[in-house]
Amino acid sequence: MAKLAHAQWSSRMGFVLAAAGSAVGLGNIWRFSYMVGDSGGAAFVLVYLACVALVGLPILVSEWMIGRRGQKNPINTMADLAADHGKSKAWALVGVSGVLAAFLILSFYSVIGGWSLNYTLSSVIGTFNGQDADAISGLFGGMLASPVTLLLWHTAFMALVIGIVARGVTKGLESAARLLMPALVVLMLILVGYGVASGYFGEALAFMFRPDWSALNGGVVLAAMGQAFFTLSLGMGIMMAYGSYLGEDVNLISTARTVIILDTVIALLAGLAIFPIVFANGLSAGEGPGLIFVTLPLAFGNMAGGTILGLMFFLLLTFAALTSAISLLEPTVEMLEERTAMSRVTATLASGIGVWLLGVAALLSFNVWSDVLFFGLNIFDLLDTFTSKILLPLTGLGAIVFVTWCLKRDSVEAELGLSSTGVSVWNVIARFVAPAGVIVVFVTGLL
Ligand code: PFF
Ligand code: NA
Repeated sequence: MAKLAHAQWSSRMGFVLAAAGSAVGLGNIWRFSYMVGDSGGAAFVLVYLACVALVGLPILVSEWMIGRRGQKNPINTMADLAADHGKSKAWALVGVSGVLAAFLILSFYSVIGGWSLNYTLSSVIGTFNGQDADAISGLFGGMLASPVTLLLWHTAFMALVIGIVARGVTKGLESAARLLMPALVVLMLILVGYGVASGYFGEALAFMFRPDWSALNGGVVLAAMGQAFFTLSLGMGIMMAYGSYLGEDVNLISTARTVIILDTVIALLAGLAIFPIVFANGLSAGEGPGLIFVTLPLAFGNMAGGTILGLMFFLLLTFAALTSAISLLEPTVEMLEERTAMSRVTATLASGIGVWLLGVAALLSFNVWSDVLFFGLNIFDLLDTFTSKILLPLTGLGAIVFVTWCLKRDSVEAELGLSSTGVSVWNVIARFVAPAGVIVVFVTGLL
């Protein structure tokens, strides 16, 4: 975002596209489906939907509101707004923890972005054509077992991210999202259609929407909340930074609703595309992070026109991953630019190399370092768990508590542009339901 003149978006549409570019990514397709599969299905999905509506929406609005008022990077914005309202400078920690979270997330996000790049190429050369489930799983397992392959693709993906951020051409990418996002939706619909034709769509529907509440426990609820934060790019100061580009006339709640609906629809479509393939082929829903990489190639490899559809799908997935990854690198780059004498290019290289190094540790946890465990988790899982289950909820909580309890209540209410009933609903949800929900889920999930 830093390279945009700090002018406001020409239109609400431009803003929605930029925010959706950050939100829609691997989280919707790769992470959502694997978390649903790992957590046993519908109970997770329903808790996730509740978190998106009751916690995600008010926190998204809060982050944008803070950004629009502060007009600076997350750390300075929080520090200045706190000072203006006679609050402690310690509120800047919300910004610091956001920058840290973005840095950590990008390290493993880039590894998966690399998988997506690799699968794009494999689709082009027809690797998946006519293969059965065992062969496809074997290909995936082979990739995981090879540190060199993983390193190569992780490096390629990070190089793309660094190149784009260093040149500050993110705006161009965001306008490309105008075309590519609908294309992604169309491809997902085709895959859902394939799932319907497979005869296992009913099972997938039941798996995703008919809850077995006995599967629910504190850990699953925390995972669902973490997924809500992750997928909406919350708790990283990123939406705060975006908010600083938001015109005064843009309605926060309706804009948040648009972005959230888009993000949620894409995630649900991904589930409806993937689980019929899982059931039709006797695969395991709890396959883990490899879920989309052992299901979708199987479908593409065996459907008419699969080569071209597979290529388009993985290309679009890679593109969506890139627009999200760019937004994940920005906070660190901006912080270095503002706090050191580094130029943009140097700051980008320094942050990118740091992220890349950490990503190398993450990818080694799939092979040579698979036995290196911390708290029972390998490095990849540790990075993912620590960010989505701890840093993001705490940062997001900080943002919403700051808006509802530290900013002037009248001005917040005026800014929302709601009717008086709407304001009351907002006050109940944003002041009590969302913060209490985050705290309860956080505490019970960790215990
Ligand atoms: N929301 C992105 C996704 O669902 O893939 C991931 C992400 C991007 C998370 C940017 C956080 C972020 F700041
Ligand atoms: Na998302």
